[in-house]
Amino acid sequence: MTGDAGAAGEARDGRPFGLRDHWCGELRLADEGAPVRLCGWVARVRAHGSHLRFVDLRDRSGIVQCVVDTDADLRSEYVVAISGTVGARPEGTSNPNLATGDVEVRDCAVEVLSEAEPPPFQLDERAEVDEATRLRYRYLDLRRDRMVANLRLRASVMSALRRSMERQGFTEVETPLLWTPTPEGAREFAVPSRLHHGSFYVLPQSPQIAKQLLMVGGMDRYYQMAKCLRDEDLRADRQFEFTQLDVEMSFATQQDVMAVVSDAVLAAAAVASDREVPPVATLTWQESMERYGTDKPDVRFGMELADLTGAVAASGVAALSAPCVKAIRVPGEAGTTRSRLDSLTARARQLGAKGLAWFRVVPAKADSEDAGAALGSRPLGSRLSLDSPLARHMAPTVIDDIVTATGAQAGDLLLAVAGPTATARAVMGQLRLELGRPPLSEGAPRYVWITDFPLFDEGPDGTAVPAHHPFTMPHPDDVVLLDSDPLSVRSQAYDLVLNGWELGSGSIRIHRRELQQRIFAALKLSAEEAQARFGFLLDAFRYGAPPHGGFAVGVDRLVAILAGEENIREVIAFPKTQSGADPMTGAPKELAPGALRELGILVGRAGPAAGRSPAGPGGSAP
Ligand code: AMO
Repeated sequence: MTGDAGAAGEARDGRPFGLRDHWCGELRLADEGAPVRLCGWVARVRAHGSHLRFVDLRDRSGIVQCVVDTDADLRSEYVVAISGTVGARPEGTSNPNLATGDVEVRDCAVEVLSEAEPPPFQLDERAEVDEATRLRYRYLDLRRDRMVANLRLRASVMSALRRSMERQGFTEVETPLLWTPTPEGAREFAVPSRLHHGSFYVLPQSPQIAKQLLMVGGMDRYYQMAKCLRDEDLRADRQFEFTQLDVEMSFATQQDVMAVVSDAVLAAAAVASDREVPPVATLTWQESMERYGTDKPDVRFGMELADLTGAVAASGVAALSAPCVKAIRVPGEAGTTRSRLDSLTARARQLGAKGLAWFRVVPAKADSEDAGAALGSRPLGSRLSLDSPLARHMAPTVIDDIVTATGAQAGDLLLAVAGPTATARAVMGQLRLELGRPPLSEGAPRYVWITDFPLFDEGPDGTAVPAHHPFTMPHPDDVVLLDSDPLSVRSQAYDLVLNGWELGSGSIRIHRRELQQRIFAALKLSAEEAQARFGFLLDAFRYGAPPHGGFAVGVDRLVAILAGEENIREVIAFPKTQSGADPMTGAPKELAPGALRELGILVGRAGPAAGRSPAGPGGSAP
């Protein structure tokens, strides 16, 4: 525990009351001589003479050292109340690593409130404990500094988001958890109805349609800290259940939505740290793909993609003859070994490229000319040359153009992929991350808006699938292309990216029934099917829908990044494991036959989960 009063200096622990009159982590030299009564867990006991012991007492505010003269049994994680007097630690015994390190509590009386078995893992440090054990004993894991800090940061961030939304005139409205399917792309969790056997509610993957109906209802500016549920494969940035700051507003432009959300996420960053956060930048989708090879650019570092298509077009090198050639400059890495280059090539292939071209950037000195020629390098009239088997086949002017396009310096390594535009961008974008990305915790958070997304992506069979969701308004100039060339229609959709993670997305919505029906048609959804699934939305649009738009921020991702964590599990009190299980409760579990009968459910015995819990042997609750 740092014992900090919290990031950005907020007083966080409130007035101590009940069985205690002080917090452990708040005692300072100014409290010298004060009688205190503290409550908490024994973090550590050290013998000091025959009876005298040092007890580190921990509560959620921090740790303080208590000098205890008793032969009572005191062990790690016992819950105790300690009464004593605050004193300055003797000269030379202060602990600068502890916020309370200048003081100790003396003349202590100790009352044991609860005994404890030895915990299954060390709680007082960032000990490497495997995930299953941490989650099986999450209530112990939560006592660790890291989890206390993360959950408190989460609370501060949510509070800052709420304050920002309220300041901006938004009203929080709760929407149902028992809902109906919506076409937002994710697999949904279904809930069987006891009263209507064979019928199901669906847990909302987001409040998307509900918030649009709130706009029809005249709510005008809505927000919600919304629980969302999606039955998708879990990853570092994905859980089944997560929280969105969900926003919708009427009579607003894209710029209005972006300004409102920027205010909220900058307010969140401000409570997380004192670091200056740069204003939110904006890139169009095209620019982002061109410069970073992705629509989730991490702009905390350079190594932007350079376009070599023109530079190598006339090189005559077959390996580089392709519709698109993208490159990155890896500063100072000209000395990269051949075996490392081979493994980078293998990685590029794994990512979908045919191969990887590499060039060591070397000074074009007279004495390096001969050696360079032997290695296939071409000396450059000016300063630099490229050392690589491929450069052997290149005219000096081509090399010159490559150096100019990449901004290469002597000692750099250049990597390039030639292929279809999407492949060249995606592979170089990924290699850029793998070779240059700093840890999430490094530097100030960098938010970027990505605008002008395409309305549709190309599905596996060449059909159009919504890039965002089917309620997104097309760009007004492109509506004419909806039937003839849907894949080139731009949308009024925008994403917010933070340090390379997609933090949220939103759009201006369609508010006219006819246009919504045309989009469903472009998605090959028949009028009957559209009516059956979303008739309630289309019907609502008959009765005066205002122009509206909105956004949703992934709160778990936001908190994780602000906490410097690489996995959102670290900022969620009771997350699921990668396989979707909860090793603490054993969920998901089978239901008793009676409960199944009541729900009208017959469970087949075949299938991977039949007869056992995915939580495995440790799955039952302790
Ligand atoms: P979208 O589906 O892009 O948009 O979700 C918005 C944000 O929610 C977060 N998110 C998740 N976080 C953790 N685990 C998950 N499984 C998960 N899935 C999504 C991400 C994501 O960017 N209704 C639209 C928003 C709108 O148009 O207003 C929506 O839900 O941070």
